[in-house]
Amino acid sequence: MDQKPAPKAPDAGEAIAKAPPCTLVIFGAGGDLTKRLLMPALYNLAMGGLLDEAVRIIGVDHNANTDEGWRKSLSDTMQSFTTDRTSEFHPDHIDSKAWGFVRERLTFRQGDFTAPETFSGLGKDLSGNVIFYLAVSARFFGPIVDALGEAGLLKEAEGAFRRVVIEKPFGSDLASARALNARILGQGSESQFFRIDHFLGKETVQSILAIRFANGLLGPVWHRDHIDHVEITAAETIGVEERGGFYEPTGALRDMVPNHLFQLLCMVAMESPATLEAEAVRDAKARLIEAVRPVPPSDAVRGQYTAGREQGHAVAGYREEPNVAEDSRTETYVALKLDIDNDRWRGVPFYLRTGKRMAGRLTEIALHVKPPAGSPFAGPHSEVAPDILRFRIDPEQGLDIAMNAKRPGPRMELGRVTAAFDYGDFFRETPSVGYETLLYDCMIGDATLFQRADGIEAAWAAVDPVLEAWADAPVEPYAAGSDGPAAAEALLARQGHHWSPLDER
Ligand code: BG6
Repeated sequence: MDQKPAPKAPDAGEAIAKAPPCTLVIFGAGGDLTKRLLMPALYNLAMGGLLDEAVRIIGVDHNANTDEGWRKSLSDTMQSFTTDRTSEFHPDHIDSKAWGFVRERLTFRQGDFTAPETFSGLGKDLSGNVIFYLAVSARFFGPIVDALGEAGLLKEAEGAFRRVVIEKPFGSDLASARALNARILGQGSESQFFRIDHFLGKETVQSILAIRFANGLLGPVWHRDHIDHVEITAAETIGVEERGGFYEPTGALRDMVPNHLFQLLCMVAMESPATLEAEAVRDAKARLIEAVRPVPPSDAVRGQYTAGREQGHAVAGYREEPNVAEDSRTETYVALKLDIDNDRWRGVPFYLRTGKRMAGRLTEIALHVKPPAGSPFAGPHSEVAPDILRFRIDPEQGLDIAMNAKRPGPRMELGRVTAAFDYGDFFRETPSVGYETLLYDCMIGDATLFQRADGIEAAWAAVDPVLEAWADAPVEPYAAGSDGPAAAEALLARQGHHWSPLDER
């Protein structure tokens, strides 16, 4: 008798192929992003055996260092993660073989990001596949890409790629994003540029597509006939920390909305792509963002945190933070109501909010389902409570549906229940920082999780009216540790809606 194959463990996937050999050139080698996210991601890729033996990593920074000095400081930082529970990466220990693999491939070059010598020097050291990673302040994106182009480093020889990863923020409004796209596309083709949005590296964000398009249960309700409104929240409890210099001219809207929150919006609202090919997915996203109506300033609320209490501790207000002006009008909170002008979503408000120093840390998407028409459970003047489906993205990871059930007892009375799943109950969790997939995808040339020029420009076009109106607008204060400014509640109350509380889960 044939023996049945053993069932696959629920988390068993197909074996993943190693990425092709390449040289990764990191501009901003001494910066925070390199230490906190890129090195842990490379280490995790090495742990998974996904890096080719021939991979090289060249760090470029304007501050002086040596190969050994850079290796040593990165090794120390990696080690420090084992005792720092607040870092994005907190493994129990660092595997010396995997870190050794990365460490011995690191070399350092001091160089000014705007000096042609930096690039001619680099050129002598490079051949074959190269990824240039721009982990630098946004003001260097254009100049570095120009210099790479002018030094001939973006020319792709037969069978070898030259790619550029660009961090956010990509532009600061529609005009500057268009100008930056035009500038970089003057030096290379769209397929060479990988505009990164780290939210797309989150497993729970990628999984939204799987949940929507690989199950028959949800699709039929994914429509204005059934969905009443949608909330998208990215609330943080941390303040602006040491990033005042970056944050002052940026603010919450530019920092989080046209990039991270719009990516969440795409995942939950885009049409089903015909295939999972990068261009099919990016087309579907771009069509969705193009359908977002330009947001009128009357549908936008901005707030700034004042001193308050966060998890039992007194914390300073935004204006008291380092490198922040005493009379700053930069928003640390934003709430928007978006209208999507397509057949699926016309008339369904999408409410987006994000803020620092809020009552809870929570990234989630909540879809409020319309109650059934003519339910025998509804009273003459009341409806039954709507079902709410929540994609929990961070820090909890799962999906839950709040719904009605019969309360046990002699009477037919309704009670509220939650049907929920947690990723951790089904899949083996590997500690990751989200950049692993993004780096690996860039190495194999899969642009699905990266933003295309049209999607980025469409997102800026949607928020541009608000940015213009806010250039001289006041900002509403809210106490640190609260749910945000009162006007944000009023924005939803206009249509009889409320924000979900931040601190009750
Ligand atoms: C970054 C923003 O892109 O995203 C930060 O610049 C923000 O201000 C961060 O804190 C939030 O990301 P995450 O993954 O911690 O939710």
